[in-house]
Amino acid sequence: MKPPSVLQQLPPDLTLERLPKHVAVIMDGNGRWAKNQGLPRIMGHKKGVDTLKDLLRCCKDWGIKALTAYAFSTENWSRPLEEVDFLMTLFQRVLRQELRGMMQENVQIHFVGKLDGLPHSLQAEIERSMSETQHNQDIQFTVATNYGGRQEIIDATKAIAHLVQQGKIAPQDIDEALFSSHLYTAGRSDPDLVIRTSGEMRISNFLLWQMAYSEIYVTDTLWPDFNRTEFHKALANYQGRDRRFGKV
Ligand code: FPP
Repeated sequence: MKPPSVLQQLPPDLTLERLPKHVAVIMDGNGRWAKNQGLPRIMGHKKGVDTLKDLLRCCKDWGIKALTAYAFSTENWSRPLEEVDFLMTLFQRVLRQELRGMMQENVQIHFVGKLDGLPHSLQAEIERSMSETQHNQDIQFTVATNYGGRQEIIDATKAIAHLVQQGKIAPQDIDEALFSSHLYTAGRSDPDLVIRTSGEMRISNFLLWQMAYSEIYVTDTLWPDFNRTEFHKALANYQGRDRRFGKV
């Protein structure tokens, strides 16, 4: 029998206790990857889905309990209509095809963003996948879709202002815990490690509040090429850091 590939288990140089509990990814470079291969941009997104699926499985294999992926930002609507349509159809198809697999692998899927701005058929698939997987416990998989960090903060602020206006809370009751509990990510942990592929040093309106103390790792690797070996490098780099959370 073939021994399992070392990358199916936690690589020996990584320590389970010092792994990030929550990893978030900005999946950039799909278009460039496709261009490099002489393919249309949309083929990069298609390959990007395979990369994301393998990363989710890898997190599960290595004991990481939460993964968040930035799939579509509020700014992405300004892409060519054809590409936006392709992405919406792709999200819907992937959700439908992968639901059974997520149940088998005990994945709890959750979506964050302005979901009511998405096509109705996609909204229905999102609701179905969230509701069917809600009791799964091996890994929490959050997909940011039609997501903008500033919009999320504005939405939370409006909700809190409304509570103040109704006299349900006083302004002095507003603290970090209360504010967090009105974000789309309420009840979920902040990411310990945020990975951005394709070399851009930007956070692009992603998890602005939640990233306050996250470690950031940027790699030149394009998202479709971000495999387990690349993830291993990111985790080894993370484990070498001294997280101080503002202390000395
Ligand atoms: C950024 O690359 C990528 C996106 C805007 C889309 C990412 C979406 C997926 C990989 C699909 C995820 C699917 C599900 C169901 C969660 P880019 O197009 O900006 O690349 P470029 O910078 O090279 O042009």
